[in-house]
Amino acid sequence: MERRLEGQVAVITGGASGIGAATAQKLVAHGAKVVLGDIQEDRLAGFVKELGDSAVGRRCDVTREEEVKGLVEAAMDSHGRIDVMFNNAGIVGAIGPLDTTPTEEWKFTLDILLNGVFYGMKHASGHMKRARRGSIVSMSSTAGVMGGLGPHAYAAAKHGVVGLTKNLAAEMCAFGVRVNCLAPGLIATPLAAAATVGDPDGVEQALPVFAEQSPIPGRAGMPEDVANAVLWLASEESGYVNGQTIAIDAGLTTGSKPGAPNFAEYQPIMREAGNSGL
Ligand SMILES: NC(=O)c1ccc[n+]([C@@H]2O[C@H](COP(=O)([O-])OP(=O)(O)OC[C@H]3O[C@@H](n4cnc5c(N)ncnc54)[C@H](O)[C@@H]3O)[C@@H](O)[C@H]2O)c1
Repeated sequence: MERRLEGQVAVITGGASGIGAATAQKLVAHGAKVVLGDIQEDRLAGFVKELGDSAVGRRCDVTREEEVKGLVEAAMDSHGRIDVMFNNAGIVGAIGPLDTTPTEEWKFTLDILLNGVFYGMKHASGHMKRARRGSIVSMSSTAGVMGGLGPHAYAAAKHGVVGLTKNLAAEMCAFGVRVNCLAPGLIATPLAAAATVGDPDGVEQALPVFAEQSPIPGRAGMPEDVANAVLWLASEESGYVNGQTIAIDAGLTTGSKPGAPNFAEYQPIMREAGNSGL
């Protein structure tokens, strides 16, 4: 297998589970060193052990700027470079009607999903500017590009990630650094299992639900689908792609949906009312 990130260094927040963990595995398989941060310290330690010499883990709560800075600095101290910053950590956060959303829950959700991304961008981008290279990838969602697909605070934060990505891309392009984000649909992870079947350990159990809700019949979105996009955005293969939000959603945000009844069978052409002939 061709190793597309040989010698590169990637920092990943929320690296102990789901999409972050799948991405760590993928990048390591392609020759990268990974520096992973998470608040699930035991889970992270076990996972880092599995990954072997190419990975280190460190507690990093993305709501704490000094811990995000510490994660980035750990990569610089160990490897002297940072090529990829993946701002991925997340939660579902505040749910329910806006008029009853507790302000504390709103702020907590934005703190993780938007401020956490800001801290990652802030502390990685300085190093990348000086090196005049790098790829910043952040986690948005289908709920960050369309209304009605997620809770209010989640949607607001994820839309914020899209906006910040575009703006930072406009600053960083002059330094040869690219900034993009991802908008996955439903992906089979503990977070999605918790939201779907009420149990973060119920990913296997939730797979038929994910497959049923997918626009592509029977094809659930998997963490590796997102990891593949990060690999591409990290590599020079995407070297002319900047400021973009890449949807990984089986077409959900472009109108594809399960069933597609309008296209089920041939119908005679429709023209003036009452005349279906050519
Ligand atoms: N799974 C989906 O359907 C889906 C869809 C679109 C976007 N996303 C986004 O993908 C990202 C990863 O989610 P996932 O589905 O892999 O979920 P996950 O729960 O499997 O992984 C999220 C990780 O983030 C960590 N985390 C939570 N709060 C943190 C904090 N304050 N500091 C550091 N780490 C923290 C968790 O401990 C966990 O390891 C999230 O930003 C999520 O919003 C997920």
